[in-house]
Amino acid sequence: MVEELSVDGFAPLRIKRVVRETSDAVSLVLDVPEDCSHRFRYKAGQFLTVRVSVDGRDLRRCYSMSSAPVAEELRITVKRDPGGVVSNWINDTAAEGDELHASPPEGRFTLAEGVSSPRPLIAFAGGSGITPIMSLVRAALADTARPVRLFYANRARGSVIFSEPLARLTEQHADRLTVAHHFDEDAGVVTATAVASFAESAGDADYYICGPAPFMDTVEASLLDSGVPKQRLNLERFTIAEVPPGVTDNTDEACEEIVIELDRQKVTAAHRQGETLLQTARQKGLKAPASCETGSCGTCMARIVEGSARMRINDALDEDEVEEGWVLTCQSLPTSRKVHVVYE
Ligand SMILES: Cc1cc2nc3c(=O)[nH]c(=O)nc-3n(C[C@H](O)[C@H](O)[C@H](O)COP(=O)(O)OP(=O)(O)OC[C@H]3O[C@@H](n4cnc5c(N)ncnc54)[C@H](O)[C@@H]3O)c2cc1C
Ligand code: FES
Repeated sequence: MVEELSVDGFAPLRIKRVVRETSDAVSLVLDVPEDCSHRFRYKAGQFLTVRVSVDGRDLRRCYSMSSAPVAEELRITVKRDPGGVVSNWINDTAAEGDELHASPPEGRFTLAEGVSSPRPLIAFAGGSGITPIMSLVRAALADTARPVRLFYANRARGSVIFSEPLARLTEQHADRLTVAHHFDEDAGVVTATAVASFAESAGDADYYICGPAPFMDTVEASLLDSGVPKQRLNLERFTIAEVPPGVTDNTDEACEEIVIELDRQKVTAAHRQGETLLQTARQKGLKAPASCETGSCGTCMARIVEGSARMRINDALDEDEVEEGWVLTCQSLPTSRKVHVVYE
């Protein structure tokens, strides 16, 4: 029998179709092999980690689904990052019939479950941040009765991805979908006032934000200033956040012992200065879950049951989770003599 996923958790997905969305963005419709289709079921807003070989280097990057799970082919959308290796390689070379290695869907930028009332969904997308938001919008319209408002910012008209599908959706769901486009070329960058006025009188809503870091910061600050509770904000960051000033790889206290539990395995390791808990787990041969390795996705989360650790970056866990002892192991450096961490 064919092994469904390779040893390192990747499966070969065939590119069924390449859709040129704009001059700098491409969508890939992917065919999942029959024997691992159950591993590739996903929730709207999740992402795949793809592994490609460019000039002899094995590189991994996360790409969100732009499709919705209901009755749609699985599709990712990749926008060129100026100077970026993988996004340009995919835009320049991806062709129908090629294989792309991907690990199963991950991510917590998903629709709140068990929302009985048709609570509005208010989304803010900037540039390539439209990808997971498109998936969420499609799913909310297909599966729920929730009103949806989308604020979509781009530098210029030519950069708008999904212009036609969005226009079609707006026609089909005129009673509950509103899309507002913002173009920096007309109005300058998005301001806090524009954000507040778009979200005005939304009432009890869920908010989803994805785009370049300064855009996300403006939207987040403006919504919080307008009184939106923090737990109603969902953020997906594509880019590596700056390590906050004062956070260095030096730990407060020399760590002597790290105990890691994963899948009924328990290992004990000595700590090496500057090594994250994820790196230590790998050193000991554990197949610890991880994806972005930038503190954005939450795939590597585990709970500290003894001792403490400090995260260099945390763009995935909320305050309650951190208080309960959850950490992003890809970003965690031990800060106590002994640390015991459990992947649950
Ligand atoms: C959860 C998640 C979901 C994502 N979903 C999507 C998606 O749906 N669509 C999408 O398009 N992207 C998405 N991304 C972003 C994507 O994973 C990549 O980060 C993006 O495509 C850039 O990769 P790259 O290899 O092209 O760029 P990289 O080669 O990684 O470069 C990134 C940037 O850093 C700069 N850079 C590189 N090396 C240096 C250096 N030595 N000095 C200074 N600058 C340097 C480059 O110029 C470039 O601007 C997602 C990311 C995450 C974490
Ligand atoms: S692997 Fe994504 S946050 Fe750690």
